[in-house]
Amino acid sequence: MSCDFLSLAQPGVQQLSPYIPGKPVDELARELGLDPLAIVKLASNENPLGPSPRVIEAIRNELDELTRYPDGNGFVLKQRLAERYGVEISQVTLGNGSNDILELVARAYLAPGLNAVFSEHAFAVYPIATQAVGAQAKAVPAKQWGHDLDAMLAAIDDNTRVVFIANPNNPTGTWFGDDALAAFLAAVPERVLVVLDEAYIEYAEGGALPDGLTFLARHPNLLVSRTFSKAYGLAALRVGYAICAPVIADVLNRVRQPFNVNSLALAAACAALDDAEYLALSRACNSAGMQQLEVGFRRLGLQWIPSRANFIAVDLGFDAAPVNQALLREGVIVRPVAGYGMPTFLRVSIGTESENARFLAVLEQVLAR
Ligand SMILES: Cc1ncc(COP(=O)(O)O)c(C=O)c1O
Repeated sequence: MSCDFLSLAQPGVQQLSPYIPGKPVDELARELGLDPLAIVKLASNENPLGPSPRVIEAIRNELDELTRYPDGNGFVLKQRLAERYGVEISQVTLGNGSNDILELVARAYLAPGLNAVFSEHAFAVYPIATQAVGAQAKAVPAKQWGHDLDAMLAAIDDNTRVVFIANPNNPTGTWFGDDALAAFLAAVPERVLVVLDEAYIEYAEGGALPDGLTFLARHPNLLVSRTFSKAYGLAALRVGYAICAPVIADVLNRVRQPFNVNSLALAAACAALDDAEYLALSRACNSAGMQQLEVGFRRLGLQWIPSRANFIAVDLGFDAAPVNQALLREGVIVRPVAGYGMPTFLRVSIGTESENARFLAVLEQVLAR
């Protein structure tokens, strides 16, 4: 009984902290005795619109088959994605959320003695996936909260197998343009796999952000990962995908859990992909909400990091933890990001107009105390 199973875990895992998700509404309701319906959750970059009716119908149509395993190859969804993006089916890998894609990459390409490079203030799963397989996580200092791509290039060494870059980045919302991505990809050694995480790309309208897929033909070491969790509104179903060279997709497929994407998720993602109306609504709601929050922050005299995603990081200028606690007590859940090296910030997901208004009103009250 005296065996210390923490010290028996591989060293990289011992140094990890578990991923902390946004606080669930029901948990806060239980803890504080609040009415769940009165709670506003703007903490997990979810789509505030609720699911599309076409998605609900697709899921209903699938229910009679629940006793069967899903199509382990996800053929129909892969085919639809391949058609949509003008790539071969052999270039598409499906994941249980795009999180799964990041883990497949780490499992297939990283090991003790090797490393992955990513930016400071980048998505927490990059170090988790890297250290979970015993590889070294190399976080490169950020520049104005965003990726310093030159410094990231300089951090690549002979043992680097993977670079994770997010555009836009979570939790900062920062982004880089077409020229920066082109220069970066041209300079990265060909043997280093570049994972371009485009979880929020559908929100980035107006051509300010590059479409990573347009770089695939010139850069066989590029993998673009995307998700149905955000603009398509399917976070609960866990479905994401990667598009990359067939040889890399083949490698990922070797370490993929059989049936990693369930049948409801496959059907829902196909329906979501066709639902242009929902996507347009998601974008419109997001840009209106982003503007609403920016106007509110300006009125409150707060600074924020300009964002192209469905969230915004606001700087309170002092330790944000007590404000976060006060917001929770009022039934407003946002995301503290001290764990990302941003202790004075709160990350706020864009909600509906009334959710945003409630958040701003409660924030104003709390700051006035
Ligand atoms: C940058 C980034 N990448 C990937 C993910 C994973 O999302 P999912 O697994 O839901 O596709 C997230 C989720 O918040 C994210 O912020």
